[in-house]
Amino acid sequence: MTKIAIIGGSGLEDPSILKNPNEIKISTPYGEPSSSFKTGEINGVEVGILSRHGREHSITPTFVNNRANIWAIRELGFTHIIATSACGSLRDEIKRGDLVILDQFIDFTRFRKTTFFDSFEKGELKHTPMADPFNNDLRNRLINAAKELKLSYHPKGTTISIEGPRFSTRAESKMFRMWGADVINMSVAPECILANELEIPYATIALSTDYDCWKTDEAPVTWEEVLKVFNQNVKNVISLITKTISSFQPL
Ligand code: ADE
Repeated sequence: MTKIAIIGGSGLEDPSILKNPNEIKISTPYGEPSSSFKTGEINGVEVGILSRHGREHSITPTFVNNRANIWAIRELGFTHIIATSACGSLRDEIKRGDLVILDQFIDFTRFRKTTFFDSFEKGELKHTPMADPFNNDLRNRLINAAKELKLSYHPKGTTISIEGPRFSTRAESKMFRMWGADVINMSVAPECILANELEIPYATIALSTDYDCWKTDEAPVTWEEVLKVFNQNVKNVISLITKTISSFQPL
């Protein structure tokens, strides 16, 4: 049975989209997840919402316990993960408010636990393939739903995940563009890596909120801008999630 975990980034802390709401608290061998799971149904499909930065948005990107989050998701029997994330645009054509259905990431984080496999038990090797880290079935469902809803979206895109919580320098921002990154955020890696290690299909809806600082004709990004633009557009993220989840309903 399909059971979908939604990992909500900044601005998606209010799980009022759920029918028959309930709450589950769970602990893991890796410690506590970022929040409890707000569970319920969306269009008849079981879902659970986890707030990546905690319900009070008190957990900084570096200290999100991604291993506990992903472990808890598996422990509770979720079959898919749809993650949301605010991102900065590194391309002119990705405008504020646009949604990007990511297909690649570059991991530029430095201080995070990026694996469940700290040691190889009994000589068992765990070098997880990561060539295509976002699940294509889930991505296609998101793309079809975005098309039907006539949202302003991009069917693919590479994100670079930085450590944060600071934003980038102009030199970094320009370098990330040269590396081929289309958007920038602080969360996708290692969350996506860990989901792949546990073989849970994972996709991200990245909502573009700013142009980072590579543009010379604009003021550099601020956190206030990120929050403002995210909140102005979060309704599109919610309708995209809702429509995508309906695609899992049995006919
Ligand atoms: N999240 C939203 N905008 C961002 C930016 N410019 N850099 C890193 N993370 C972000």
